[in-house]
Amino acid sequence: MSMIVAIDGPAASGKSSVASKLSGKLSCVCVNSGALYRALTWHILQSGIDPANPAAIESAMNGLQADLAVGPKGQPALRIDNQLPDFVSHESEVNAAVSKVATVPAVRSLITSLLRGFASERDVVMEGRDIGTAVFPDTPHKFYLDASPEIRRQRRAAQGLEDSIENRDHLDSTRAIAPLSIASDARVIDTSALTLDGVVDEILRLLTTSSADRK
Ligand code: DC
Repeated sequence: MSMIVAIDGPAASGKSSVASKLSGKLSCVCVNSGALYRALTWHILQSGIDPANPAAIESAMNGLQADLAVGPKGQPALRIDNQLPDFVSHESEVNAAVSKVATVPAVRSLITSLLRGFASERDVVMEGRDIGTAVFPDTPHKFYLDASPEIRRQRRAAQGLEDSIENRDHLDSTRAIAPLSIASDARVIDTSALTLDGVVDEILRLLTTSSADRK
C-alpha cells in the first residue's frame, strides 16, 4: 500500500511550500489538490458558466472528459478534453471563483476519485482542504497547518496576488460536503513563527516518532 501524507489547512498557511519540500525529502510525489480545483474552475469560467450557479456547473460536469496528465516531476495536472486549462495565467479570476465551484458535489466527487486513483499507485504528499478528512481518512499521516490571519494576509500580499483569503476560508469551511476542518487524529502545526525548514523538520520528526510508536 502506498504512503499518503495528508496536509490540510486554510489559504496561505504554508501548505504548498511545505508539501513540496517535504516530498523532496521523502522522495515521493507532491500533489497540490487545489491546482485541480483551480484548473476545473478556469474551465468553467472559460465555458461562460456562472461560478455561483451550482446547477449549471453540475450539468457541465455531465459527460466531461477529464483525466490526469502526469508532469515531469510526477505531479498530476487536470486535463479536460485533452487540454490543460491555463489557470496560472488567470489567478485573480480563479481565486474569486474557485471556492464556489468547489462546493458542487459533482466537482468534488470527480476530483476526489482522481486523487484516490493517483495515490493508489505511488507514495504522495498531498495537500489541500479535505485530504485527511475526506479523501484519505484512513491514512495515519495527517497534518493540519495553520497560521494567524495577519501572517497569512502578509504572506499572500508578499506574493502580490489578489486573493480574499477570509472569503475563501469562510466558503471552504462552511460548505456542506467535505468542509475544511481538522481531522480528529491530525497533528496541528502553527506555522506563524516557524520557517519553512522548521515546519518540514517538525513533520519529519513527527512521522518518525509515529512510525516508531507503531512498531
Ligand atoms: O490550495 P488552493 O488555495 O490552491 O486551493 C484553491 C481552492 O480549491 C480552495 O480555496 C478550495 C478548493 N479546494 C478544495 O475544496 N479541496 C481541496 N482538497 C483543495 C482545494
